This record gives sequence, C-alpha cells and structure tokens, in this order.
Amino acid sequence: MSASGASTPPVPFRYRKLGYAALTVTDLNRSLPFYRDLLGLDLVEQAGDSAYLRCSRDHHNIVLTQGPKAGLRRVGFELETQGDTDRAFEHFRARGLAPQWLPKAETQALRQGPSFRVREGHCQLEFEFYGSTTVLARPYEPTVAKIARLGHVVIGTADFPGTYRALRHDFGFAESDFVEDRFSFLRCHPNPFHHSFAVGASDSNHLHHVNFMVTDIDDVGRAWHRMTKAGVPIAFGMGRHPPSGSVFLYFYDPDGMTVEYSYGMEEFPEVGAREPRRLEPVPQSLDTWGAVPDAHFGKRGVIETA
Ligand SMILES: [Fe+2]
Repeated sequence: MSASGASTPPVPFRYRKLGYAALTVTDLNRSLPFYRDLLGLDLVEQAGDSAYLRCSRDHHNIVLTQGPKAGLRRVGFELETQGDTDRAFEHFRARGLAPQWLPKAETQALRQGPSFRVREGHCQLEFEFYGSTTVLARPYEPTVAKIARLGHVVIGTADFPGTYRALRHDFGFAESDFVEDRFSFLRCHPNPFHHSFAVGASDSNHLHHVNFMVTDIDDVGRAWHRMTKAGVPIAFGMGRHPPSGSVFLYFYDPDGMTVEYSYGMEEFPEVGAREPRRLEPVPQSLDTWGAVPDAHFGKRGVIETA
C-alpha cells in the first residue's frame, strides 16, 4: 500500500470526530471571558481549576485548566462506538504504546464513557479516545459567532518524520494534503473534513493553533472587528487557505496561544477519496490573499509532557 491518504488507514477502529482540546491557561479568570464572550463558546461547567466549554451538544469541546505554563494538555478524539475504543486500546497496546484507561472518577468528571489516553512519543502529545460523551439536552446556542464545531488542532514538532509516521500508521489518520517533509493535513477517517489535525516541522514541540469552524463568512469578518475593538491581537488574516479553501482569521488568546475561525472546508468521501496533493513550500500555500502572519503566529503554547 502506498503512503497516500486516499486509502483507508490500516487501523481496526473508526473515528467519529475531534472531540475536544484541553488547554492550560495561566489565569483562568482572564481566559474564560475570552473563550466565552469573545470567541463564543458556552460555559457548561466550572469545577476546581477547570472550565468546560462547548460549541455543540457535547458536554465539552474545550477544557481550560489553570496551570503555570500555557499550552496544549491533550486532544480528545471520539470514536464511533465503544467497540472501536476497545479495539483502539488493544491496537495501541499491541504496538507497545502503553495506553492507559482513565479511572472512573476522571471519566465521570469528563462525562464520558470508558476512555483511554496514549502519548505519541515523538511530538509528546497525549491523545484521548472514547466511544461516547454526554449529549446535553440544551442545544448549543451561538452568540457572537455561529460556531459549527471545533475544527482542528495543529501542532509543531521537532521530530516531523517520527510524528508523521506515528500519526499515519499508529493513529490511523488519513492524509489530505502535504508539504513534503514539512507539513501534513490529516483527517480522522471516516470523518469527511479535510483536516481535524495537522502537524508541521518546527524547532520544538508546541501548539500551533486551535480552530473553530463557523457557518458564515460574515462570522470571520465580524470577528476581525470584534477582536480588534477588544484589543485582541490579530495573528494572521483574514485570508484564504489554498489547501482547504477556507477563509480564515487567526488571533491570540490571553496567553498568546493562536486561535482560528475558519469558514468552509473540503469534505472527503469515505471511499474513493482523491489522492493527497503535494503543496509547494511557499507562503502562497498558506494564503492566497496576501496576508502576512505575525511573528508569534502559531508559536506559543507548549505541549505538556506530564
Ligand atoms: Fe487551521
């Protein structure tokens, strides 16, 4: 089999979606108003040092926890069924990646079914897998932006080849587009979106950005004015990404971590998807409108290792 993303990944489990991202923020009281009032997430629950926010029927799509260093604690992926989760656990165990089931107290706090975590050893990011999460009775009601979903998480890594190999072959992500030896857009098959996760070569392991997909191009334009008025620094954009065709705006959260709104994204069929495209490593591969990224774009936020 070729390394192409068009083929079904050879893993014995099926993804449903990117479920949530857990972020560490240095001052929860400062970050909460940003994520709730300026970004437009719904605060579901605050317990201890953590706040659970959502942009869907799920109990959480973002978990903010206060800690000394801002960064990405883990990403949670929902699989299609509990059976997929059991098979995924066995798959990672057989590959020597030492997955660990979460204690009941922790799955109860997360309002999830049986869940396990496994750390990818090259980029050091911890992944969590679960087959069910609590669906809240009250629908998510958009406020300042019509957020459709948590779209994707992107990281930078000092070991791109190792991380890339693991994500493709151990984690079973399909590739949608790539810049050779530099960047890979990954989808969690059979989820149709062009990328739910992406990884780029960097000089360290770090968070690049967290994305929220909006349903209206006006949401992106309004955000530019809303953020600017509130003194939120813009990181990049507005612009249009050629790989996915999406219109984007990046800005910084209070810790300087990069957050994105985007409108529109290519969707792939489960069977017969096109081959991944090899993108030219030039700035125009990032944006076709001529926007220039800020110096700190996609740079702040550590990947937590313990
Ligand atoms: Fe993005």
